[in-house]
Amino acid sequence: MEHDGMIQAAGERIRGAANVVVVTGAGVSAESGIDTYRGAGGLWEKHDVNEVATASALRRDPAKVWRFLLLLREHIAAASPNAAHRAIAALEDRVATVRVITQNIDGLHQAAGSRTVLEIHGNVREARDPETGAIHALGELDLERLPPLCPRTGRVLRPNVLYFEEAYDPEIMGLASRWVRQAEVILIVGTSGMVPTPYFLAWEGKSAGAFVIDVNLDRSAPMFTFGTELADLFLQGKAGVVLPQVVALI
Ligand code: OAD
Repeated sequence: MEHDGMIQAAGERIRGAANVVVVTGAGVSAESGIDTYRGAGGLWEKHDVNEVATASALRRDPAKVWRFLLLLREHIAAASPNAAHRAIAALEDRVATVRVITQNIDGLHQAAGSRTVLEIHGNVREARDPETGAIHALGELDLERLPPLCPRTGRVLRPNVLYFEEAYDPEIMGLASRWVRQAEVILIVGTSGMVPTPYFLAWEGKSAGAFVIDVNLDRSAPMFTFGTELADLFLQGKAGVVLPQVVALI
């Protein structure tokens, strides 16, 4: 099938669906000017992941991990939603139930107007008390000294972000899993599959009957797990170009 035919087919599938889940990765925010993690110019080319984004780095040198988080927060603060985020939000006017599951920590889906967003890797604007789980907005904390302290209890806070070597919150993943199993169509957008969760969720949804549409600049082909081959349709291109074309057909 050529490209236009696939856009058409994606539009028809979504038009006929009452429940759509959109699973997104860093590629959905690339056109907002936010660096992806992998690939040329990606964040993990410029920063050593083992120094700034692992549980052991957080134990070893929390201030360094915090400094990287604040750098990301600054980078993200300059960005606004792009045409892909807006197209995903616009689905809500056309489909009864639309749920977004994102690996991104930038909050741009919510800024674009998506109302049901599950952030499985947390949010760059939040800190968390590791013992109680209480969430604090960074804006309310003294960030002069790192790591920041809870203004009420004086306890050391950590970023509310999932790091490598850490397990997902079972409640969050339980909800994600329930959503994909209820979905008739799953759109998976801008993820390399190197962190396998998005394709695992798509696989879980597909096993329960969902039709899977993958949108990416390139086919995802992670070495040890599913990638684009799992999809029923692969729409190659920029999410900010492809998604508005699909949504215009619904
Ligand atoms: P990656 O940076 O691994 O992959 C980005 C994907 O987006 C690639 O497949 C690109 O081809 C695609 N892409 C880039 N620009 C695009 C565009 N304009 N339109 C469509 N696709 C585009 O990001 P993720 O798969 O999301 O985890 O993996 C990121 C996770 O790994 C993060 O959440 C983070 C990271 O290490 C943790 O920190 C735990």
